[in-house]
Parts: sequence; C-alpha cells; structure tokens
Amino acid sequence: MEIKSAKFISSYTALEKLPQNGMPELAFIGRSNVGKSSLINMLFDQQKLAKTSSTPGKTQTINHFLIDEAWYLVDLPGYGYAKVSKKLRDNWGEMIRQYLKKRETLYCVFVLIDSRVPPQKIDIEFINWLGENDIPLSIVFTKADKLKAGELDDNVEAFKKELLKYWEELPVSFISSAEKKTGKDELLTYFNEIVEIV
Ligand code: GTP
Ligand code: MG
Repeated sequence: MEIKSAKFISSYTALEKLPQNGMPELAFIGRSNVGKSSLINMLFDQQKLAKTSSTPGKTQTINHFLIDEAWYLVDLPGYGYAKVSKKLRDNWGEMIRQYLKKRETLYCVFVLIDSRVPPQKIDIEFINWLGENDIPLSIVFTKADKLKAGELDDNVEAFKKELLKYWEELPVSFISSAEKKTGKDELLTYFNEIVEIV
C-alpha cells in the first residue's frame, strides 16, 4: 500500500471550524501517551508530521492531516490524563464526544490500546460508549516492540476477553509498533478499503 502524500492541514478548537468539504475522516483516539501521534508519523513516513512527547497530554486540539488529497486522518487529544483541571477535561471531553457523535464524515474511529498493560476500565468504558452510540470502531494495540511475543498475545487476549463480556462480536483489531513499523501495511490497506466505500 503506497501513500502518495500526507500533509498537516490545521489544528481545530471548535467543531464549527472543521473542514466542510465532505471528505472521509478516520480518527485516532486513546489514552494520553498511548502513541496516537507517533503512529501517524510512522504510517505516513514523516517523523514530524504529528507532534509527539513522552509527557502525556501533548495533543490538545483536533488535528487534520490530508492523505492523498482524498481523505483526512484525524489526531485527537488523549483521554484519561489526570493533570489537566477537571473543568478543562470536561470541556474537552464534551467537544470530542460531540465530534464523535455528530461528525457525518467520520467513517471509523481507531481506538489505540497500550499493549503493555492489562485491560483498563477507561478503555473498555470508552469502547462501550462508542458501541452504544453506533460509532464504527477498530482497535490498535500499540507499543508491541516493548513486549515479548508471549506477553503481547496474553495482553491482547485478555483485552478481547474483557470486551466479550459486553460485545457479541469483536471489532477488527491490529497490532502496531511505531518503533519497528509493525502493522503499517495492514493498517494502510484497511484505511484505503474504508475510505473507498463512498
Ligand atoms: P497525547 O497526545 O499526549 O495524547 O499522546 P499520544 O497518544 O499522541 O502519544 P505520543 O505519540 O506522543 O507518544 C507518547 C510516548 O510513547 C512517546 O515518548 C513516544 O516515543 C512513545 N511511543 C509511541 N509509540 C511507541 C511505540 O510503538 N513503541 C515505543 N517503544 N514507544 C512508543
Ligand atoms: Mg498526541
């Protein structure tokens, strides 16, 4: 799967300002520091396309990247970051929830899950909330390079098992590493399949 171009368009702080040209959008979301911005840089072969940081809470705006002049990859702020004030958290949470519920051009939300840790309540609750609101989602287990193969399998299985308590069928899922470029071809191929169904 070849991507011809990927460029940063803008950071948005209000939903009314988002592009209105009807192009499909795929969005990345997940806990702060899970590796959303790093995955974007890996997938589109540009180390400085999206801003990354070892400190959680780096991405605070809705960020649009135009891919192949045809669709947007959207980098969203992370959830579960305790250091921002409750008021800010609530405001942000509300804007992101509205974006996810109302954005008609949003074709799929990719929920990034840290493969190093056991199932986290906040991730399960967020995925269930997407399901309750009929928002299409896929899952990406990140930072696979940090684990031995056996541990990775165990954590992925544990997460799926937890989800099956609530879901009859599991969403499509991928394994990724921004360091090792794991999952690149699979994800890019899948993106193309989704955005071409217009
Ligand atoms: P927020 O914008 O704060 O919500 O974070 P984010 O989800 O965008 O995370 P970001 O991409 O900024 O990465 C957070 C930290 O994890 C950085 O120090 C990255 O270098 C590191 N990281 C991200 N992906 C990987 C990966 O696949 N492997 C390893 N080893 N580290 C990673
Ligand atoms: Mg980020």
